[in-house]
Amino acid sequence: MNDSKRKGLNSFIHSDSSDSILSAYQEDRPFYCEDLSSSISDLTQIPFLKSLDTMLDNWSDEVHVHLPDAADEASAIKTNSKEARKLFRNGMGVRFSEVNKKSPKLDSWLQSIKEDFGFSKMTYARSIVYATPANKGNAPHFDQNYNIVIQLTGNKKWWIAPNTTVANPLTRHVIGLETDPELASYTRQEFPKEMPEGAQEFTLKAGSVLFVPRGHWHMTHANEDSLALNLTFSAPTYLDTLTAALRGRLAQSPHWRESIDGLNSEEGFHIAAHKFNLLLAELKEDVKTWEAEGILAATEFAE
Ligand SMILES: [Fe+2]
Repeated sequence: MNDSKRKGLNSFIHSDSSDSILSAYQEDRPFYCEDLSSSISDLTQIPFLKSLDTMLDNWSDEVHVHLPDAADEASAIKTNSKEARKLFRNGMGVRFSEVNKKSPKLDSWLQSIKEDFGFSKMTYARSIVYATPANKGNAPHFDQNYNIVIQLTGNKKWWIAPNTTVANPLTRHVIGLETDPELASYTRQEFPKEMPEGAQEFTLKAGSVLFVPRGHWHMTHANEDSLALNLTFSAPTYLDTLTAALRGRLAQSPHWRESIDGLNSEEGFHIAAHKFNLLLAELKEDVKTWEAEGILAATEFAE
């Protein structure tokens, strides 16, 4: 089979070592290949991905421009392509969201990769293009999603380190910025104040591929103007799937849909708590009959 005709995760196999993104995913470690250009040319040759200029020329939606204060997408403004071009020349990063919506080919790759990972049908898969000016980059952070980075043009450095503070985070976190309250609730230790020591270093040039596992710390620095295509996957967790199923089930009942009131008096509080306990007693009985197969069948195979 001609490699260039392959689609999906099978294209991301290191030609020298046979290492693959799928193995890296299973072992919760990065995957890097300096040059995978021949096996992913189907993607990298999508015309508008050729350069920042072709991206801007073909993009009529808003783009996000990263402001210089935080070196992170948490601090960004939305603007048009014309303004973005100027701001890039002034040293600011530009982000194009959901680029897959502009290219059926790109979208079909995303869907194939999502299936190859075995992720849920409910997974939010998208592709983002990042333009980073020379000598700029991203502050150390981790994301709650999996990320495949395909370098399109320019030379960019990445550093990746395992996250020993929290496993399977549900939200991203940037060192030096505020911690999401839910993330803080299940993080027992303090986050590091800077990129952890011993991070692996990777240099990406046109055709290089890097897989960043969910939750791993990473930071970047563009050695020259850089354009990269990211394929990101936010796959539902067991928690997400149970929560969605529970809500779907309980929403069928007018009693569960009732607004809680009376909480401003002692008597009202007890009445509300009594009603709530009756509903919980019913739920406990109901939950005993639940099977994972039934929940997954409802979320994955329902039309
Ligand atoms: Fe990131």
